[in-house]
Amino acid sequence: MENRLIALVTGANRGIGLEVCRQLANRGSVVLLSARGLAKAAAAAAELSQPGGTVHSVALDVSDDKSVAAAVRWIESKFGRLDALVNNAGGNFDIANQASTVPMDYVRATLEMNLIGAWRVTQGMLPLLRQSEHGRIVNVSSQVGAFEGEGGFGLQLMGGAAPAYAVSKAALTALTVKLAAELRGSKILVNAVCPGWTATYPGAAEQGARPVAEGAGSVVWAATLPDDGPTGGFFRDGKPLRW
Ligand SMILES: NC(=O)c1ccc[n+]([C@@H]2O[C@H](COP(=O)([O-])OP(=O)(O)OC[C@H]3O[C@@H](n4cnc5c(N)ncnc54)[C@H](OP(=O)(O)O)[C@@H]3O)[C@@H](O)[C@H]2O)c1
Repeated sequence: MENRLIALVTGANRGIGLEVCRQLANRGSVVLLSARGLAKAAAAAAELSQPGGTVHSVALDVSDDKSVAAAVRWIESKFGRLDALVNNAGGNFDIANQASTVPMDYVRATLEMNLIGAWRVTQGMLPLLRQSEHGRIVNVSSQVGAFEGEGGFGLQLMGGAAPAYAVSKAALTALTVKLAAELRGSKILVNAVCPGWTATYPGAAEQGARPVAEGAGSVVWAATLPDDGPTGGFFRDGKPLRW
């Protein structure tokens, strides 16, 4: 029986996801570092030291039913449960688009990656999360999709820019609330986190984005909540955000 926290992170070969894995491993967790393709996941896992924790690499494309099913089967056979699911995979921050003209194929691909991907993985992993005494689901969302944003980011604050991304993240936060309502009274807490503008691409730090360790810390907080922690909320740095 594995007594350490077992956490699966999607899109973890780089950026915030990789740093979430690093921090969870440093806390002594069993980290399932997933990426689209085992080689990618293994290369990223090799970067992490494992003081007290253990890092396994997992192939998981959140857009692919078969890939999700295979990951579920692997976790089931190896551990029989999952304690924390971090739906981190995402992107398509379409700052140059407007809702009136963004190509529908792009909208569809963005919803598939940011919303349906997280939804698909959650449905697949729920039986394993139900086997945990302390199930946690963290959806990595964004204040870009918040009606009441702040600091220049929000549905009403960006002059219509990033429509596909914003709508996908608004929907992901809404999914968080729906799932939390369904699971209230179970041992599973479901929350959305905005990591804040985080320096995961070249030049971002110089423009004012915060260090990856800080963005990831926000996510780790929600993945390691105590049993009396919140559910159905939207947070950054452990504090509720309006949305
Ligand atoms: N950075 C920010 O300022 C910021 C702010 C708010 C919210 N967020 C959110 O935080 C999360 C991580 O952001 P980030 O900045 O770390 O992004 P990133 O550096 O662009 O990394 C995105 C990750 O998602 C993976 N991914 C994309 N599609 C996938 C799929 N179908 N299956 C599995 N993995 C997939 C990518 O894999 P590949 O390497 O294979 O492409 C990559 O590992 C995203 O959900 C993002 O929207 C970021």
